[in-house]
Amino acid sequence: MEQVQRILMDVDTGVDDALAIIFAVKSKKLHIEGMTTVFGNVDVKQATENTLKVLDLAQPYYKIPVAMGADYPLFRPRREAVTAIHGINGLAGYELPATSRLPIDESAADFIVRVVNERVNDLTLVFTGRLTNLAIALAKDPSIAQKTKLVLMGGAIKVPGNTTPVAEANIHGDPEAAHRVFESGIPITMVGLDVTGKAKFSETHFHQLMTGITDEQAELKAFMDHIFTFSFEASDRLNEGKYRLMHDPLALAVVEDASLVQTEDYYVHIETKGPLSSGATLVDFRRPQLRSNASVCMQVRAEDFLQHYIHTVLS
Ligand code: BDR
Ligand code: CA
Repeated sequence: MEQVQRILMDVDTGVDDALAIIFAVKSKKLHIEGMTTVFGNVDVKQATENTLKVLDLAQPYYKIPVAMGADYPLFRPRREAVTAIHGINGLAGYELPATSRLPIDESAADFIVRVVNERVNDLTLVFTGRLTNLAIALAKDPSIAQKTKLVLMGGAIKVPGNTTPVAEANIHGDPEAAHRVFESGIPITMVGLDVTGKAKFSETHFHQLMTGITDEQAELKAFMDHIFTFSFEASDRLNEGKYRLMHDPLALAVVEDASLVQTEDYYVHIETKGPLSSGATLVDFRRPQLRSNASVCMQVRAEDFLQHYIHTVLS
């Protein structure tokens, strides 16, 4: 029997976080021990509401506690949400039905500390937003860095950023938090733009998905239809062609199946200063990497990943 991996997801539910949550719930190889929410694509209240509603949509057969987290970066103001990519409510303006699910009465950072200590070396943290909640958790209990591992969507090594010429959104949104996490000693797998920039869900993939969804999943179908159509129009407006980058789902898929990517071990420095350079994930390629703080995904079998995504959602 296949090994089921326990994960704790931290999300800023936006469009691709929603796609990642649906994938994780449907996956037979992942068990979500809990979810934490953070500001980013939207404010934390909206991210939490979106997360609870997307859970309703995905219909997990087990209980998933959701803990609300930070609404601001550690030391700087929050940037405006990018409504062109995620819509006014983070879900491309789609109104999911009201939910009876509620967040638990525990902060995201406290929840992370508790669950990591309950599941020592038996939990993977999967962060698909800013690293603020983890930085706070590490400040409360630095020992968690030795008791768990982290797979994060964020950063850009050999490709340009998507927020500034050199910075990716999740790192740029709270560079001080990212700096603390990368310097904490926690084992990191970084799923950044080097690979997520190649994970393009096209109209062909969309038709395959839509054709496969059964009538029993009418709500899921309507949601997918809306958010992919919105995403295709958004990318088309940017003169990039019609596709949706599957940033956050790829991070979850890498937890499930590390063979989808090739990694290289680097010491990743997080730049926290400078209007253009803040949030950059820098590797000093002038010298051999004598030490590392992250396994960085540099190559991806993109089509295999996209097919796996579709098959998991349809399963
Ligand atoms: C990341 O930023 C957010 O907009 C997405 O949800 C993803 O996590 C991509 O840079
Ligand atoms: Ca995200």
